Amino acid sequence: MDLDKYLKAAERAAKKAGLMLIQNIRSNREISFKGEVNLVTNFDKQSQEIIHDSLLSVFPDHDIISEEGLKKEEGSDFKWIVDPIDGTTNYVHGFPVFCISIAVEREGETLVGIVLDPVRDELFTAKRGGGACLNKKKIHVSDIDELDKSLLTTGFPYDIRESELNNLDHFSNFAVRCQAIRRCGSAALDLCYVACGRADGFWEMKLSPWDTAAGALIVKEAGGCVTDFHNQRFHSGKKQVLASNGKIHKQMLEVLKLGKI
Ligand code: IPD
Ligand code: CA
Ligand code: CA
Repeated sequence: MDLDKYLKAAERAAKKAGLMLIQNIRSNREISFKGEVNLVTNFDKQSQEIIHDSLLSVFPDHDIISEEGLKKEEGSDFKWIVDPIDGTTNYVHGFPVFCISIAVEREGETLVGIVLDPVRDELFTAKRGGGACLNKKKIHVSDIDELDKSLLTTGFPYDIRESELNNLDHFSNFAVRCQAIRRCGSAALDLCYVACGRADGFWEMKLSPWDTAAGALIVKEAGGCVTDFHNQRFHSGKKQVLASNGKIHKQMLEVLKLGKI
């Protein structure tokens, strides 16, 4: 199957939306709250519209879902999964770590995934069976094989204040086992950073398909390993994700077992 046409359409859509996000990074935002600490802005919605229009102009028969509610579900075999801004809290504060994430699945299998960081102009891409790239150059996971020497990333769920399943237990368990942990604020970029070896592992719970669909394929195609916390095969419907360079995967699973999973 020619996957390049999906890749090109996703890139074009993400670049249009990315430009709009960069142009508005200092503009006033209209912020509404989906929860106590879960924000959405007019720019999430604008980005979503740009991406939908762009993708559907090329593939009018395909289905599409995205985080801020725009969707078309008419039983197509092809489904686009879009996060119009992954890292909205960062975007709102002007903290320059956010991205656009787009994947297309066919009958549940991710064919293509792209993540665009418009601040650094970094485009992470992957085609099923075709490897992963950063700005068109092949990328590969790191080869750190000891948890003790690893740099990890994670994130926290929006119900952190209400739920006991809030990742704080895993965070403190990992903090004393690895070299350091970073909380960047964008799960899609966290996954891409594992893919290109800037981080060695990433775990998070309560994620949604738009957070993980593209990034998980990018990690796998870069030679990494992606599962849930029980070492079962990951697919974008799963809320738990453990992604690593493969070499520290078992050690990370052992630490996760110490907390609530
Ligand atoms: C969030 C980010 C964050 C992660 C949250 C996600 P959003 O996505 O990826 O890093 O910790 O779990 O929901 O809301 O900015 O699209
Ligand atoms: Ca997200
Ligand atoms: Ca989002």
